[in-house]
Amino acid sequence: MDERSAVEPVATAVSKVEMTQLVLPGDTNSLGTAFGGRIMAWLDIAAGISAGRHSAGPVVTASVDDLHFFMPIQKGDVVVLKAQVNYVGTTAMEVGVRVEGERWGGERYHALTAYTTFVALDDERRPRPVRGLLLETDEDRRRASDAAERVAERRRRRGERSAKFHR
Ligand SMILES: CC(C)(COP(=O)(O)OP(=O)(O)OC[C@H]1O[C@@H](n2cnc3c(N)ncnc32)[C@H](O)[C@@H]1OP(=O)(O)O)[C@@H](O)C(=O)NCCC(=O)NCCS
Repeated sequence: MDERSAVEPVATAVSKVEMTQLVLPGDTNSLGTAFGGRIMAWLDIAAGISAGRHSAGPVVTASVDDLHFFMPIQKGDVVVLKAQVNYVGTTAMEVGVRVEGERWGGERYHALTAYTTFVALDDERRPRPVRGLLLETDEDRRRASDAAERVAERRRRRGERSAKFHR
């Protein structure tokens, strides 16, 4: 990355990822629906690619917010994972991932949405500042504003946790 591109904000379109998977028998639980752990691995990959694109370098998963599976995804269905950076701090990025199931014929259903936080790392594996996020649409601004509230809430909860552990 040259010096100019390191500071210039980047449009959300740069970090958008759409990843498609097929639920094979090896991806299922004993009920024959998609194994939650597999979906989590896929969403971590989609979100990591999105954060890596935004930050133009390596990233690690710092946290994933509560996950709620609304609908089981059936064996043989297609899974579509849509990820994009919603909010950028100094070194951390919130990446939202919407996961949809798709039946043959194209009918889609919302299976879950996850909010993940990734931190960009430098060569010494220390947090590395990332480029800002260019908010071009009302939708971008709404996502960023919602994400800012979640970021503040996560900070609050981390503060509480660390106070508890260091008592
Ligand atoms: C994530 C990690 C790099 C943070 O390192 P750290 O030294 O604690 O960094 P800091 O406290 O300076 O925080 C860096 C940024 O991450 C954010 N952050 C740290 N922990 C977080 C968490 N649990 N959830 C959300 N954000 C978090 C901070 O708010 C900060 O954001 P900002 O720079 O945008 O303000 C470090 O804890 C780590 O390496 N964890 C293990 C990651 C891992 O192995 N993941 C699984 C495999 S990819």
